[in-house]
Amino acid sequence: MKTTDTKAVRNPRDFQTRVKKLALIGCGKMGEALLSGILGSQLIPVENVEVTVAEPPQADFLAGKYGVRASTNNIQAVRGADLVLIVLKPQQVKGVLHEIKKALGKDAVIISAAASVTTGLIERELGRPVRVVRAMPNTPCLIRQGMTALAAGTHATPDDVSLAREIFSAMGRTVVVEEKHMDAITGLSASGPAYVYLIIESLAEGGVKLGLPRELSTELSAQTLLGASSLVLHTGEHPAKLKDMVTTPAGCTIDGLMELEEGGLRVTLIKAVVRAAQRAKQLVENQNS
Ligand SMILES: NC(=O)c1ccc[n+]([C@@H]2O[C@H](COP(=O)([O-])OP(=O)(O)OC[C@H]3O[C@@H](n4cnc5c(N)ncnc54)[C@H](OP(=O)(O)O)[C@@H]3O)[C@@H](O)[C@H]2O)c1
Repeated sequence: MKTTDTKAVRNPRDFQTRVKKLALIGCGKMGEALLSGILGSQLIPVENVEVTVAEPPQADFLAGKYGVRASTNNIQAVRGADLVLIVLKPQQVKGVLHEIKKALGKDAVIISAAASVTTGLIERELGRPVRVVRAMPNTPCLIRQGMTALAAGTHATPDDVSLAREIFSAMGRTVVVEEKHMDAITGLSASGPAYVYLIIESLAEGGVKLGLPRELSTELSAQTLLGASSLVLHTGEHPAKLKDMVTTPAGCTIDGLMELEEGGLRVTLIKAVVRAAQRAKQLVENQNS
């Protein structure tokens, strides 16, 4: 497994030579985070991006907010697109693939961020050796602190994977993995921000219980997670070693840790990742096989 060197990102001008039109199909919560990240990274000019949603008012909203062409017309959006980013709900993907099948250019590259949907399903539904890269991003892509895993489909070239890495590394870290790991990654880093918000909220409530103002408590809590996470990534140390640095013998931290162990925090988090990954596998299980 390799992590991205963001310095490897090509000049936006090179990217634009390769991608003259990008279609983003399904511009909902995740799609908007990606749209915002892509436009913010200036990889591609706004006039070269077309997005779609299900409801016309939402299309109007996105057009007004970002200045992109936005509609409910998937066929029009993919026509002439070199790159098609699919950010639909898993259950919506198959129907939309049928809809766009004929309009999709023969050299178009598809990047799908839909959980559970395999590259095999997309290749099969389109009925030809289409180049597909599967991506599993997370919402911090919105502020370029995302974590995205990428996996190549059968016909995707190394250059297609590089293209996907360029897009997502402009929004945070990327890793290239074997596709068999994608459900586990969905349960960990794609669902993970939700678990972390619960932890931030709970730590902040601890502060509130002790009389700290809520706003201050939330800031202390969130920055503590950010700082501790950054230290793991920056030093490359095992988290247990960094934990030991905080835990003075007979000090306060060991008492806090004992409470967490008694409450089963570790096993609860492990089970959360496993359950979410199992669910990710089930979402379109009958369509994948
Ligand atoms: N949310 C996350 O943190 C996250 C992280 C990683 C991956 N993902 C993946 O991203 C995908 C989308 O998730 P989400 O949370 O962003 O869901 P969402 O907010 O419901 O977004 C789905 C979008 O698809 C649009 N849509 C529905 N049917 C359509 C159609 N026929 N043609 C064009 N657009 C259509 C919807 O339009 P309207 O807005 O008009 O209803 C909506 O904007 C899922 O597969 C999920 O697994 C999400």
